[in-house]
Amino acid sequence: MSSPAVRLSDVNFRWRGHDHLTLDIPAFDVQPGERVFIHGPSGSGKTTLLNVLAGVATPERGGVEVLGENIAALSNRGRDGFRADHIGLIFQMFNLVPYLSVVENVLLPCRFSPRRRERAVAADGDLYSSAIRLLSEVGMVGSGFQRRPVSNLSVGQQQRVAAARALVGAPELIIADEPTSSLDADVQESFLQLLFSEIEQSRSTLLFVSHDRRLEGRFDRAVALSEFNRAAGQEAGGPDVESGAA
Ligand SMILES: Nc1ncnc2c1ncn2[C@@H]1O[C@H](COP(=O)(O)OP(=O)(O)OP(=O)(O)O)[C@@H](O)[C@H]1O
Ligand SMILES: [Mg+2]
Repeated sequence: MSSPAVRLSDVNFRWRGHDHLTLDIPAFDVQPGERVFIHGPSGSGKTTLLNVLAGVATPERGGVEVLGENIAALSNRGRDGFRADHIGLIFQMFNLVPYLSVVENVLLPCRFSPRRRERAVAADGDLYSSAIRLLSEVGMVGSGFQRRPVSNLSVGQQQRVAAARALVGAPELIIADEPTSSLDADVQESFLQLLFSEIEQSRSTLLFVSHDRRLEGRFDRAVALSEFNRAAGQEAGGPDVESGAA
């Protein structure tokens, strides 16, 4: 049996200045190639969990194994390199670079990771073609989109650029934080199709956080954060939109 794509053990995470834990996770595993849907009320720690998995936030104790590597034990630089090589991130706030064009944003991971660059070139012939293919699959073609700075795109368009950026160079783990929240139904559907078809081709693992539980049937597994995070109950301050249709 291969090692899990993600393995958390005895993870405790506390935000600076907080007197309570945001994450208290005895164990959580995700198998390679698995597509997991994670839900939970606003403020319960979903984004915090994804930050820990991406090595953006470091827990005060516990093991965070990603693709067999204990990223909690890496140096900051080692973690940055590991993330660039192996993880495709779609942030809740997108984190696009405003002064770069759409294509430049999509290709950003390839600047930081020779490995992602090689994989993109192997898939599509050259980097530009790889970016354009991914963008066209999320409907971002025509009207000179490619050259436009991302700052003058709509929120839904920015979300699609962020998805193309996460997928370029076929990273083994895709982490997506509310990636469809700003998309209308049609675009949401093509977005999910792109995500699933890319992931199937590269046999990547997907962790997908959303409030919209109508989507959960499309995943291999749906899990509430509170099922594996003992701290989830005490945290949630926001409205409980769990049962809402997003
Ligand atoms: N950078 C930060 N510094 C301090 N506290 C933070 C920070 N980010 C999040 N928190 C706190 O951690 C808790 C969990 O927040 P988190 O963003 O993980 O929730 P979430 O489940 O993703 O919520 P939402 O569904 O609204 O996105 C909240 O109480 C929040 O205030
Ligand atoms: Mg969040």
